Amino acid sequence: MKKAVLAYSGGLDTSCCLKLLEDMGYKVISVCVDVGLPEEELKEVEEKAKNLGVLKHYTIDAKEEFVKDYIFRAIKANALYEGYPLSTALARPLIAKKVVEIAKKEGAEAIAHGCTGKGNDQFRFETTIRMLHPNVKIIAPIRELNLTRQEEIEYAKKKGIPIPTESKKYSIDENLWGRSIEGGELENPNYIPPEEIYAWTKNPTEDKEEEIVEIEFKEGIPIKINGEELDYVELIKRANEIAGKHGIGRIDIIEDRIIGLKSRENYECPGAILLIEAHKALEQLVLTKDELMFKQIVEEVYADLIYKGLWFGALKEDLDAFIDKTQERVTGTVMLKLFGGSLRVIARDSPYSLYRQEMVSFDDKEINQQELAGIVKYFGLQDVLFRRVK
Ligand code: ARG
Repeated sequence: MKKAVLAYSGGLDTSCCLKLLEDMGYKVISVCVDVGLPEEELKEVEEKAKNLGVLKHYTIDAKEEFVKDYIFRAIKANALYEGYPLSTALARPLIAKKVVEIAKKEGAEAIAHGCTGKGNDQFRFETTIRMLHPNVKIIAPIRELNLTRQEEIEYAKKKGIPIPTESKKYSIDENLWGRSIEGGELENPNYIPPEEIYAWTKNPTEDKEEEIVEIEFKEGIPIKINGEELDYVELIKRANEIAGKHGIGRIDIIEDRIIGLKSRENYECPGAILLIEAHKALEQLVLTKDELMFKQIVEEVYADLIYKGLWFGALKEDLDAFIDKTQERVTGTVMLKLFGGSLRVIARDSPYSLYRQEMVSFDDKEINQQELAGIVKYFGLQDVLFRRVK
């Protein structure tokens, strides 16, 4: 019996894959990796897989691992790709890793995914699978058959796959770190997104009251919100709720995909924006200028690696070592004021603060101003000489 493990989301693409794999003579084992889906949806996915005749279905709760080993790393790295907190991208290597684990356990000869040939996820899934399970066969039925949406719908009808209703105008991908909304009229970059696309964020113009929130970090990782210690998953959910209430984290960008296509993307990532902004503010207080400057370069590269799906690659691991080292002193609290879709840092405190109020203030004598005269006099010497030569 030929077995294939399919990364299954319950959507049209992966449901068609399931049947296409059967057409190819495979028995299908479907895997749904939960990185923060609504409970009801998980049940639906499982039922759907069973109705479509899978050999076996797995639902894997990976929420805690997602927060601990992925989201926390993204926070430490202030990871943003062109302004996007990488919610979808960050989850892909974990999903692929879980699927690989099942494939090994089940002795499956193939792993399948429902990605098309136009997006980023095909890269993220396949590079991860090849890194973790080098000899497994990878099948991407939608891409291999070059199917269009319409052809998929025809095929689905023939195979008794439920067709998404008209109400499902958009393609949604959601996990704890954010929600992405694509498709339909949104593909026109000049089309203004209607309010109905948002589910996690309130309309910022309807915000009535400002709110002050305090985030506490320990070694770069958020541990408390408003003084309350929360477990990993709860903390991220809470951050989403609080920031979402004030319409924070709506992102509308033209994004550069891996293959070079530009795409119009809408996200809502309230918690991600709140936690990253708070984290940056604390770093400003405790890291040296040189560390901040160099880390920014590292962050840019790091986000790009996540975007490209090279999470398990060499450079990502190397950069983790640097980032972890910088985070040893990123402990303390940050207060932010949230209102009407925006947020502002209003206070910060840390035992590792490099800020010296006595020194900046005018009354202090530790810095002898007279001694500065010499430093100032020769500062920019090369540029003074440059002007002379010119
Ligand atoms: N463009 C984003 C990325 O590549 C998100 C894609 C989300 N997919 C979706 N079906 N909405 O990371």
